Amino acid sequence: MGDILIQCSGVCKSFHPGKAEVSVLRGVDVSMERTEWVAVRGASGSGKTTLLNIIGTLETPDEGTVLFDGVDYASMSRGDKAVFRNSKLGFVFQAYHMLPELSVLENVRLPAMMAGVSSRNATWSALELLECVGLKERSSHMPAELSGGERQRAAIARALVNSPDLLLADEPTGNLDSEAGANILEIFSKLRYGNKTKSIVMITHDEGVAEKADRTIHLKDGKIDDVV
Ligand SMILES: Nc1ncnc2c1ncn2[C@@H]1O[C@H](COP(=O)(O)OP(=O)(O)OP(=O)(O)O)[C@@H](O)[C@H]1O
Ligand SMILES: [Mg+2]
Repeated sequence: MGDILIQCSGVCKSFHPGKAEVSVLRGVDVSMERTEWVAVRGASGSGKTTLLNIIGTLETPDEGTVLFDGVDYASMSRGDKAVFRNSKLGFVFQAYHMLPELSVLENVRLPAMMAGVSSRNATWSALELLECVGLKERSSHMPAELSGGERQRAAIARALVNSPDLLLADEPTGNLDSEAGANILEIFSKLRYGNKTKSIVMITHDEGVAEKADRTIHLKDGKIDDVV
């Protein structure tokens, strides 16, 4: 038995658009070790993003518990969760979400500045990560001047600037061509083995992408269907 980072037990989540209740997660039990890379697959609408958002404290389950390093999310206040998200988690989304009015460097160092790191140290960490993802020369550029793949690389640097324990990625290669997508996956491998982040949960529709992970979980009918 390894060192467990995330433990989801009996996680249920429904949404209530109008009168028809949509039951999305119906008792998800899954745990993840501290250094694991887990891919999440499943049909569109199967609840992958909902599960990722619950693990990321962006949504609250209706039933069940999520423990992070043994700490129950239910015991955290809203303020605790905001601090927890910024310090322990990194998020990468399909649509990059760079702030358009800030330069690449300013985007990447923002979470560190929010955590109270000095401007000098935040800049240093951001530049180190931009170098890691091959974008150091583009640090003074604006996001609009970057390609999709470059923006996603910058978003990964931003997600890692506070050295999170867990990186949560929702279809990070979904908007990219296969070459740019392969480049992103190489960066994930490199960062992980370079100890920039320890664990990764990555949603993907792509079997080739999932193969890079240590383990793939499949969501079906609101439950974990298959663990490879
Ligand atoms: N805030 C919400 N309000 C109402 N319904 C929601 C909400 N968020 C998600 N849903 C519904 O829950 C179901 C699961 O959504 P989710 O986004 O988790 O699926 P997914 O597996 O990530 O799908 P995709 O592969 O298309 O991204 C969908 O039917 C969706 O319409
Ligand atoms: Mg989704």
